[in-house]
Amino acid sequence: MRTHVADHPLIAHKLTYLRDETTDSPTFRRLADELVTLLAYEATRDVRVSPKDIRTPVGPTTGVKLARPKPLVVPILRAGLGMLDGMMRLLPTAEVGFLGMVRNEETLEASTYAERLPDDLSGRQCYVLDPMLATGGTLAAAVRFLVDRGANDITALCLLAAPEGVARLEQELADLDVPVTVVTGAIDEKLNDKGYIVPGLGDAGDRLYG
Ligand code: PRP
Repeated sequence: MRTHVADHPLIAHKLTYLRDETTDSPTFRRLADELVTLLAYEATRDVRVSPKDIRTPVGPTTGVKLARPKPLVVPILRAGLGMLDGMMRLLPTAEVGFLGMVRNEETLEASTYAERLPDDLSGRQCYVLDPMLATGGTLAAAVRFLVDRGANDITALCLLAAPEGVARLEQELADLDVPVTVVTGAIDEKLNDKGYIVPGLGDAGDRLYG
């Protein structure tokens, strides 16, 4: 697994306001949206393209278009929905599939309560959206789900990650022969005993959707 921290002053600036407990929900949603677009630029560096012949007003040339099959964007409900618009702004022709997952706040184990994905993901590049990579249980399960369906390249976009979650993903996904990349705005200090990222930003789902 490859982890890429998108170290950019604009990302750090927007993350600072996102973390601030005085930031209200409308502002939080707007900042999350803006941050995703910045992260998506990094996360799509290896998106597959194929040649496309065009004609400019001056003459013919060859550019690129998104390769088929189209990439699949997978927001993890609920909080990942707050990242969908920002991602689709950059990849407007991508297909979207949904995974509903929730973490039990006592055991910190993730479970799937909804799934709306294509049955066959053979050869597909997938972009998973989840603002928080805390213990890593949710993302590990989501990646396995996509690999089991045939996805052969997975990139997760997270606004924040905890070192414990990154380590767990590296360990749990070590047996996969599918490339997995995590692109995050920051890796914070640690998890607290309730499984929250410290300093983090609190509960992203609650701050987005109340
Ligand atoms: C949060 C968050 C991630 C998950 C991260 O979701 O949005 O999906 O927890 O935790 P983990 O890395 O320890 O698995 P939550 O379960 O609170 O659901 P929500 O998005 O519906 O609020």
